[in-house]
Parts: sequence; structure tokens; C-alpha cells
Amino acid sequence: MAGKMAYRLKVVRSLMPYTKGVKRFFILIFISSMISMALGFAGPLFYRLFIDRVILGGCFGQMPLVAGGYLGIFFLDALLAYARKYASYALVNTTAYRVKEKIWQGFFARPFESYESEGIGDMKMRLEDDTAQIERFAGYQTIDYLISVATLLGSALLLFAIEWRLALFSAIAIPLTFWAGGALSEKERRLNDANRETRQVFSSWLHASVQGWREVRTLGIGLSQERKCLWFLHRFALFNAKWINYWTARVLALPQIKEELFQQFGLYFLGGLLIIQGRMGIGSLLVFVMYHGMLSDALETVSGTDAELWANKPFTDRLLEELGRKAQPQGEGRALPDEGNETVFEQVSFAYPGMEREVLHDFDLTIKKGERVAIMGRSGSGKTTVLKLMTGLLRPTRGRVSFGGVDLEEISLPAMHARIGFVMQENMLFNTTIRENLLYGKDGASEEEMMDACRKAYIYEFIVGLPEGLDTVIGERGVKLSGGQRQRIVLARLFLRDVEVFVLDEATSALDQYSESIVYDAIRNIPEDKTVIIVAHRESSVALCDRRVEITG
Ligand SMILES: Nc1ncnc2c1ncn2[C@@H]1O[C@H](COP(=O)(O)OP(=O)(O)O)[C@@H](O)[C@H]1O
Ligand SMILES: [Mg+2]
Repeated sequence: MAGKMAYRLKVVRSLMPYTKGVKRFFILIFISSMISMALGFAGPLFYRLFIDRVILGGCFGQMPLVAGGYLGIFFLDALLAYARKYASYALVNTTAYRVKEKIWQGFFARPFESYESEGIGDMKMRLEDDTAQIERFAGYQTIDYLISVATLLGSALLLFAIEWRLALFSAIAIPLTFWAGGALSEKERRLNDANRETRQVFSSWLHASVQGWREVRTLGIGLSQERKCLWFLHRFALFNAKWINYWTARVLALPQIKEELFQQFGLYFLGGLLIIQGRMGIGSLLVFVMYHGMLSDALETVSGTDAELWANKPFTDRLLEELGRKAQPQGEGRALPDEGNETVFEQVSFAYPGMEREVLHDFDLTIKKGERVAIMGRSGSGKTTVLKLMTGLLRPTRGRVSFGGVDLEEISLPAMHARIGFVMQENMLFNTTIRENLLYGKDGASEEEMMDACRKAYIYEFIVGLPEGLDTVIGERGVKLSGGQRQRIVLARLFLRDVEVFVLDEATSALDQYSESIVYDAIRNIPEDKTVIIVAHRESSVALCDRRVEITG
């Protein structure tokens, strides 16, 4: 229990920075819960008055007091419950919003290497399932827990004050409840841990299958995809079946047994004996039973919150991990000189993590400002790797890469990326309008500027010919465009952004000769003073360049 308490505090502390401005809601929930607890204790007193005075004592004059007290408590409690719900939603929504914002920002501030190892499923789990845990800490895991501990102690004291022998009898339930809750929650935790893992894999798989529907259809692997899906669904069904067993035992069956055994049988039977012996009044027994009900509920909450805290640890742990993640400093690092964008590789060697073979070994290269360089080499020789090293997406194992005279280890990457533009073979467009895709190049660009960039990239005619022009939605991965049109829109975006270095990685490899020649025309429109680096198989691209570099890795 102490370990769980420490863990609970750790979670609360981590969430604290995200509750600025809404902490008052937490206080509101706390105060309202305290009042409700006090009202809960007051209820049975009126009941005792009703039994002992009104019914047994015949004092019907006290009836209005009893009824008034009861109604008052009822309405006040309903009002407080309303305020609590309201405050709890305000608190949870605001906190969750900020936490998700932080996770999302964190995703784009990670070291570049980490993207390769984590898929979309991981992000989905972090943003949705893991953050769902926040809700529990705005009330259930914190205030309800505290209030229930207080109620537990308060009602235990009252029970002992009313009739200590009966109280002792009902106290047996306390250790039993904690023991059973603890044991079952450990099983739930293991199950959730495995299930979270599977769900993450499933999300990534699902995403890839839906996005790759063309491959699935044309390769005729629909049936095997279906089997794979069924396999996942089967796993989830098994999980649900197991989990519901533990949950039912912990939340429904055990409390039921305790209630029936202790309260219904034990208390009334033993209480009845005490009444026969003249040691206890009927009113007292009834009040005892009511307080015992409170104790029972509080006990259920205390052991239930502990159990749930433990069962959901796999999710909360990931949430803590994400909140504790140090963001890679953005925009920090040495500023670039205004002029000069010379790229220099000095004795660079590189091997992918976990790979023996070096893709590059003692590689030297200098690309001066305004040069046009063709990087050639057979497939797999390391051309893309050179580009990734050049732009800081990978870091050399040995040696040094610099841009504008500044070592990439020290450079401000965002500042550097503002001056380098990429066109790659695979698609770089988002599923939205052409306009919005262009605006990613330069926020707030005017219609005039956009059209000008489109003209340079030889895509203007095409766009104005579309019924919806710039507002045409281009579909998932730009499916509504041809390969050449896509690449020219990407180029237009770079013209708009006015980058100094154009990097084209097999930008025309997938195009037919005609489309390629138009893209080449667009490349010829790149102003003289800009640097152009073209990776290509075809000799035709070499004609665009002053110099060729062979990669022989
Ligand atoms: N993320 C990676 N992890 C491990 N090996 C990689 C990775 N990316 C590329 N490689 C390997 O590095 C070599 C060079 O790849 P790449 O630079 O993409 O070649 P190119 O662009 O010249 O076709 C290839 O043998 C490739 O298999
Ligand atoms: Mg490549």
C-alpha cells in the first residue's frame, strides 16, 4: 500500500505542471467531497432519531425535523455532486489537452534516430490510451481516495463507539479486501501490459494495411491480411475474457460475498443476539448497519483505487515516460552565418546502428555555394545516406560534417533546414488542398507569390486548369496527381520557401521521360546562386550539373 501511495504521488507530481489555472477546480472537488462525506455521516443520525424517537418513542412532533433533515441532505448532496462533476470535467479536459499538446510537440522534438523504431501505433497509444489515465487522477485516484480513507477511519471509529464487539467482527473484512484486491490487480496489470503491446502493434498494422490497400489488392494477399486481422481480434477477445474474469471477481463477486456474509448474515444475526441480551437497541443496530455500509463502500474505494492504480500501471508508466522526456533543444545551437552554405564532409565514416558494415568510409566531399553536383552510384551504395548525413538526419560515426562552416554537431538544425529544400522519390505531400501544401513552404504567402512559384515549377497551367484550382484536395499521399505533378508541386513549395540548397533524391526516377523532362526544366529555373544536389541513376540528370561525385560504398 505504501508503494502504491508513493507511485500515486509521483503521477500527481508529474501532472501538476499541466494544471495551471485549473487547480481551483481540484480544490472545489475536494471541498465538495468533504461536505458530502460529512453529510453522509449525518444521514444515519436522523435515521436513528426516526426509529428511536418517532417510531419507538411515539414523538410524532419530531417528524418534520427528521423529514426536513433528510430532504436537506438529499438536495445539498445532489447539488454538490453536480458541482463535482462539472469541476472534474473542467480539470480533466484542460489537463489532458495540455498533456497531449506536450506529447505531440515532443514527437517532433525527438532525436531523428528514434523515428525509425516507433510506429504510428505507438503514437496512437500515447495520445489516446495513455492520456486517458489523467481522468483518474483528477478525482478517483486522489480526492476519492483521501475521502475514502477518512471515511474508512471515521466510520470505523463510529462503529467501535456504537458496539465494539460487532465492530471487531466487521473489521475482519479489511485485510481480506486488500489482500484479494492486490492479488487480482497484479494479474490485471500483467494482462494490460501484454494487451497494450498487442494493441500498439495492431494499430500500426491496421494503418499500414489500410494505406497499402493497393498492394493488398494487387498482390492478392487479402486472405492472409484477413487471417492476420482475425488473429489480432482473437487475441483481444481472449484478453477481454480473461480481464473480465479478474474484474468481475474484484469489483462484483468479492464485495457481494462480503456484503451478504458480513452484513446480511453476520451483523443482523450477531446484532440480533446482542439485542436479545439487552446490550443493544434496535435503532443502534440499524444505524450500525448504515455506518457499516459506509465503511464497506469506503473500503471498496480504497482497495479499488489501489488495485486500479496497479492494473493501469502499464499505461501510466508510458505517460510518465513521455512527460519526463527531455525535448531536443529546438532552435538552439550555433547560428549560421548569413552568407555561405558550403557543405563539407571530412573523413566521414558511417554505419547504421547495429550494423557491422560501414556504408561510408573516410568519405570526403566539398560542395560550394552555387555548385550543381550530381551524386551517382549503384542502388544501395549510400547516396541517400550521404544526404541524410548532410542534413543532420543522421550523425557520422566518425569524422565531421559542416554547413556554412559550422559543425552539424553544434549547428541550429531548424535554422539550417530553413535553408535546405528536399525533393525525394517518395511522396512529400499532405492530403489537403494544393494551396495548403504550398503554404507549408511559406506561411502566409500571397496568391501572387504562390502562382509565381508554380510557374517556375511548370505546374501553373495544370493547377489553373483544375476546376477548383489551388483549392483542389490532392488525396492521400497525393493519389489524385501524377508522379511528375507531385514532384513539381514539391518544387514549387521550395521556390516559395526560397531555400538556398536544393536536394533532389531520385526525384525523377519514378517518372517517364516526358514528365522527367518537365521536372528538369523546372530544375533549370533554379537561380544561378543556389546550390543544387541531384542524386540520380540516369545519365540525363548529369547534364544539369557541373560536376559528378561517385559513391562506391
Ligand atoms: N535505416 C537503415 N538501417 C540499416 N541499414 C540501412 C538503413 N538505411 C539504409 N541502409 C543500408 O545502407 C546502404 C545504403 O543505403 P542508401 O543510402 O539508402 O543507398 P542508396 O540511396 O545509394 O540506394 C544500403 O545497403 C542499405 O541497405
Ligand atoms: Mg537512395
